[in-house]
Amino acid sequence: MPVISFASPKGGVGKSTSALLLATGLTAAGASVTVIDGDPNRTVEGWATSAEHPGFKWLRLPSDDEIIDAIEEAAEKTQFVIVDLEGTANLAMARAISRTDLVIIPLQASPVDARQASRAIKMVMAQAKELRRDISYRMLFTRVNPAIATRDEKEIRSQFQEASIPALKVALNERAAFRAMFTHYQSLWDLHDEAVNGLGKAKANATEFVREVTQTIRDLRAAGQGQAA
Ligand SMILES: Nc1ncnc2c1ncn2[C@@H]1O[C@H](COP(=O)(O)OP(=O)(O)OP(=O)(O)O)[C@@H](O)[C@H]1O
Ligand SMILES: [Mg+2]
Repeated sequence: MPVISFASPKGGVGKSTSALLLATGLTAAGASVTVIDGDPNRTVEGWATSAEHPGFKWLRLPSDDEIIDAIEEAAEKTQFVIVDLEGTANLAMARAISRTDLVIIPLQASPVDARQASRAIKMVMAQAKELRRDISYRMLFTRVNPAIATRDEKEIRSQFQEASIPALKVALNERAAFRAMFTHYQSLWDLHDEAVNGLGKAKANATEFVREVTQTIRDLRAAGQGQAA
């Protein structure tokens, strides 16, 4: 079953938030998901252990020697495996990526973030070269102002296009509801309208994100790419 890893060396770009949105979007649609938490701040672990979440399993990223077995085992047990990686180039990252169907590299729409994101792409490319296989990745714009697509976002998107760097069409907006998941230890689908501003729009945004990711995986498999193709 598909393994999706979130990676970027830049801190605070929304790796854990996006990973949790994808995971909970999938469980809300009835799928089973394991999140492997490789964030030293244990963001997903903190969320997951604070309440019951049906269909949602998590585990800590194990030691380097056990990573591949842990991912393969999780992929047998649940329909999706999502890995929240720290994003620095190390053995854990290399091993996790070697078992990944799609790497998602979140970035904020700023030139500084775009440069840092290119380091993440280089890491993925280096890993692909070592493994002698394609590793698919997509950039994901995060924390985007929902009211306006900024000039920076448009500019960076066109630079990506020129350099044939693939990006998801959907961007995750800056939304209080995405932060509220961590305040209330609930998924967007369990939060209540009175508790959070803009919940409906946040859910629509997250649903679109989940849809594009799952479609991307289907397309990659149809094209014969990805682990289980
Ligand atoms: N789309 C969003 N809308 C609103 N807040 C967001 C969004 N994405 C992330 N945040 C907030 O930004 C902060 C950093 O996000 P997050 O922890 O997901 O980033 P990260 O890349 O996992 O960071 P780290 O590198 O420290 O692991 C958090 O406070 C989170 O709540
Ligand atoms: Mg994180």
